[in-house]
Amino acid sequence: MSNFYTEKVLAVRHWNDTLFSFRTTRNDGLRFRNGEFIMIGLPVNGKPLLRAYSIASANYDPELEFYSIKVQDGPLTSRLQHLKEGDEIIVGRKPTGTLVLDNLENGRNLYLLSTGTGLAPFAGLIRDPEIYGRYDRVILTHGCRFVSELAYGEKLVQSVLEDEFLGEDAREKLLYYPTVTREAFRNTGRLTELMQSGKLYDDLGLAPLSAEEDRAMICGSPHMLADLKTMLLEAGFVEGNHGEAGQFVVEKAFVEK
Ligand code: A2P
Repeated sequence: MSNFYTEKVLAVRHWNDTLFSFRTTRNDGLRFRNGEFIMIGLPVNGKPLLRAYSIASANYDPELEFYSIKVQDGPLTSRLQHLKEGDEIIVGRKPTGTLVLDNLENGRNLYLLSTGTGLAPFAGLIRDPEIYGRYDRVILTHGCRFVSELAYGEKLVQSVLEDEFLGEDAREKLLYYPTVTREAFRNTGRLTELMQSGKLYDDLGLAPLSAEEDRAMICGSPHMLADLKTMLLEAGFVEGNHGEAGQFVVEKAFVEK
């Protein structure tokens, strides 16, 4: 048996010059937990060229969705960005990852802290009804350089708030906090600074972060992960993993340099 499925591209959407998303068919045999990632790619010179991608669709969605950057000289994304409806992609059979609810304790507020394409695993998680059963508030933060990079997240949140099944819980519990660092916007500054100054909590009307009560998932660039992880450890948070649920979990966004 091959280690891969072949899936067909159903739709492609370009969000700006650097970001796009696409949907594919999903093999009935593929099971995953919301927040996990999987290897995907294309055949190049007769061999599969694969990268890890978070699955941005929920695990009950009959299709798969992925959110990607476009890097002009990136081995895979320079090709993937030209995908069209009807094209085929390779999808691995072994989803995995640490950003899953099983690795986190229940709590008051759950912070989903992302930068760039680190938003992708949270797209599946905020569509998981379990998340609204486990936390009083789910705060989706998204730090980007430019306003145009927020478009996918804005559309995502809007669709969850309007969803026939999730909407009621999401309108009560889901808070969205986009922030931009390199041009004017209603929220500006890095997430780390907004958390350190307390502005994030003030803006949202929430109590300051507490290891006893709150939980966090982090996904972004290596620097962002390192800084946020240090901040949470200093605040007394314990990292969760597959062996034991904790108060926060971390995963790098799979950005192709
Ligand atoms: P900045 O513009 O100040 O570098 P990138 O595209 O480099 O991955 O960055 C995505 C977003 O993450 C940008 O808004 C960037 O801010 C921010 N960022 C970069 N490094 C960190 C960090 N160490 N902590 C928090 N946010 C960061």
